[in-house]
Amino acid sequence: MKQNQSKSSVPKTSSSVSSSVSSSISSSSKTSIPKPPVKKSIPKPSVSSPVPKMNYSKFITHSMNKVPRSGIRKYFDIAEGIEDVISLGVGEPDFVTPWHIREMCIHSIEKGETAYTSNFGLLELREEISKRYKKDYGIYYDPKSEILVTTGVSEAADIAIRCLINPGDEIIVVQPAYVSYVPLIHLAGGIPVSVSAKRENDFRVTPEDILPKISKKTKAIIFNYPNNPTGAIMTRKDFEAVADIIVEYDLFVISDEVYECMTYEGTHVPFTAIEGMKERTILLNGFSKSYSMTGFRLGYALAPPEIISAMMMIHQYCMLCAPVTAQIGAIEALKNGREEMLSMIREFDRRRVLIVDGFNRLGLDCFEPKGAFYSFPSIRSTGLTSEEFADQFFAQKHVITIPGNIFGETGTGHMRCAYAASRDDIKDALDRLEDFLNNLNKNKKKK
Ligand SMILES: Cc1ncc(COP(=O)(O)O)c(C=O)c1O
Repeated sequence: MKQNQSKSSVPKTSSSVSSSVSSSISSSSKTSIPKPPVKKSIPKPSVSSPVPKMNYSKFITHSMNKVPRSGIRKYFDIAEGIEDVISLGVGEPDFVTPWHIREMCIHSIEKGETAYTSNFGLLELREEISKRYKKDYGIYYDPKSEILVTTGVSEAADIAIRCLINPGDEIIVVQPAYVSYVPLIHLAGGIPVSVSAKRENDFRVTPEDILPKISKKTKAIIFNYPNNPTGAIMTRKDFEAVADIIVEYDLFVISDEVYECMTYEGTHVPFTAIEGMKERTILLNGFSKSYSMTGFRLGYALAPPEIISAMMMIHQYCMLCAPVTAQIGAIEALKNGREEMLSMIREFDRRRVLIVDGFNRLGLDCFEPKGAFYSFPSIRSTGLTSEEFADQFFAQKHVITIPGNIFGETGTGHMRCAYAASRDDIKDALDRLEDFLNNLNKNKKKK
């Protein structure tokens, strides 16, 4: 937490950074760079010659036509320069990365650990990830062949989708869903097919939801629990029911579990803990949310060796490797970051109770989120659409909320409100909401 940072600024000695980290990083050779030969300057076009009008759409891939502008960005753009804005819009923890993680990164830079790593990521990091899954969930992933370290879960999702899709393949996307899956499927030449997880089922997906959407072209299904934007989670029983149809129709699964640590009721069940699912699932996870490391850009994929090899083929050409400093920070997070992570999660839990109670008290029916850091109240009782609610609430009260329909049709009539803001800000936002709703009701009566 920002105010609780223990900034023990004791510099670490070189030997305190594990030797296996150092040994897997190539040493930099400090030869001086020869000066380039003097080139003849290229004649500049005369100022008077007309600038040709370019038709850029001719050059840009047609698949961009299917990719919408992020509906979330719009609200940050309009908030720019306005004072007293409270954001319930942003999907990132409001805590600074724990100091010991930052310190380890600073120290590694001081030591000159600035080179590329293995395409797969530092072996020590992959070993720590493997140990963690074995210890916490009893699932073994071979660090040498079943783990790929990526530039955030964002990259892992992109290359997972790209490595599965042939043009025209269908991928089922369980919605409400994180905004990037559908555009990534389009960009890979696939066809996204949406399946709605319903409010009456607590936004959990059921075989009955999925079955009507399976066709001969269905290749895979992508879901995310704990879920962005609803905060829903799936129990083992829920997952087992889905697993049966995955086997029956011989499908592959991408399970985005980036909010895995933020489960407030019971314990998280990785989809690969379900019998028969490890061999047909790409599990995605990362450090952005659990350790408040969004800007480090670090994630990973866990999958069978053949799939990891295929993903690695894309990763090596588009990314080469994940940032080395972030990888060193991630090793430290896994080794020594558990306490801080748990304390951040306890704080999210307190905020969760505050915000959900607040919405329900004000008459906005709010499903109880069991994971992640999002609440998803219904605003149907106001008579406004989600977009109208977001626009008017922001214009009148300077609180950013995100319209639920951005996450898929089933989000219509809801708002995504992240509780990655301080408790004081959440209380203030709820007071502003009360005023906003009162004004809305007064205006309705006048009409
Ligand atoms: C469900 C989900 N997956 C992936 C990401 C991106 O994670 P990363 O920062 O690791 O790229 C987000 C970010 O909000 C998310 O909500």
